[in-house]
Amino acid sequence: MARALTTIVFFSCFISLMAPTLVSANSNGKLPPPRKLTPQQTKVSAANYQRYCSLCHGKDRQGHVNDHAPSLRSKSLFESGVPHAILRPMSYGREGTAMGGYLDEVGGPMTLDETWDLTYWLYEMSGVERLKFSTKAVLGDIKRGESVYQKQCSSCHGVKGEGVTAPALGNQSALAHNTDEFIRHAIRKGRQDTPMVAFEDKLSAADIDNVTAFLRSKASGWKMEKVVLQKLPTPDQYIVNPKGKHPNFKLTDGMYVSSSDLNAAMVAKRKMVLLDTRVPSVWQTAHIAGSIPFPYYADLDETVKDLPKDVQIIAYCSCPRAAADSVVRKLRARGFANTAVLWEGVFGWQNLGYPVVRRDVRGDTGE
Ligand code: HEC
Ligand code: HEC
Repeated sequence: MARALTTIVFFSCFISLMAPTLVSANSNGKLPPPRKLTPQQTKVSAANYQRYCSLCHGKDRQGHVNDHAPSLRSKSLFESGVPHAILRPMSYGREGTAMGGYLDEVGGPMTLDETWDLTYWLYEMSGVERLKFSTKAVLGDIKRGESVYQKQCSSCHGVKGEGVTAPALGNQSALAHNTDEFIRHAIRKGRQDTPMVAFEDKLSAADIDNVTAFLRSKASGWKMEKVVLQKLPTPDQYIVNPKGKHPNFKLTDGMYVSSSDLNAAMVAKRKMVLLDTRVPSVWQTAHIAGSIPFPYYADLDETVKDLPKDVQIIAYCSCPRAAADSVVRKLRARGFANTAVLWEGVFGWQNLGYPVVRRDVRGDTGE
């Protein structure tokens, strides 16, 4: 601790002496811009963004359209986070949140080149310059940081960092990927045009370090697992309980079925089709038994021919309804009247104690 405090004192003196010549209080100058996209890469990236990301992050990258998905154009994010703080959540997702992985390696729709291009496209669209940050740890008093956190941050980020109206700061995948300087920069500068205000004028430099160190102390060695992809169901496997009776759901607002009604129908072995409308990488991680991956961005002209019109179809997602709503509206426009959306979404379903099928987890050691 003594060392940590000395460092803070030393570091704050250093900052106050040097401040006028630094670009930003905690950066060491600028990074060169990354490679420029070709017109073709720009075109594909813009289309990929609208197809895969706009549902939650918004058509103009403004964020907070569904499920508190963060802004993908804020200055502080793009000056501190390119490429990895963008590329990694995009590729692998954030476990336990609506943010799924979009890289083909984990069951998503994009190639490695496409995820890099989309990262640089987002950067170019943000119009900011990258700053240089060190990857060193930010030292601080963790206990003091915790009390700052509970007072200043928990109302939005949750008492346990689980995220209430804001990203989950205790999320292991996020902590594994984001550096301390990246986190501290977000706290200092906030995220422009979002509820995340800049704390550099509200908290002392030492308390910002303390709360950063506290957040880091919550990372407990999360590791990427080696992903073994499951086989996707074929059309002859789409109907759950093909010999069962039809369920008789009472839909709220003509659209929604509750988790308890769906579970009762599963237990009674009713005949249904369950559509998991999220990005398929998260279907790979965990899904409701018998559901088929039917992503919100799928081309219905290709996928719809395999769906029966005379069987009750229930769509679900995790955001908690946005993706499923959009799929069901499109299906209804094509004459699929027996369609419904799971009200609580799949996280709500799990929180109520209903079962999901999980992927076999294999560690880094492989087979
Ligand atoms: C009024 C609600 C609110 C409060 C209070 C708040 N935040 Fe935030 N915070 C947000 C929102 C919303 C975002 C996401 C903003 C965006 O990018 O769209 C965010 C983003 C962040 C991020 C960036 C996360 C990432 O992965 O990019 C960090 C770090 C963060 N907050 C830390 C804190 C800390 C530490 C405190 C307390 C000192 C705090 N926040 C207080 C709402 C809040
Ligand atoms: C179903 C909704 C949804 C979709 C679709 C989605 N995201 Fe997200 N995204 C989220 C949520 C929610 C979070 C915040 C998760 C958390 O709590 O940490 C997030 C976080 C992120 C982050 C981290 C941002 C930060 O401030 O740390 C990036 C980058 C991101 N998403 C990029 C993308 C890209 C690129 C796409 C399209 C390929 C995409 N997302 C599609 C919901 C979504």
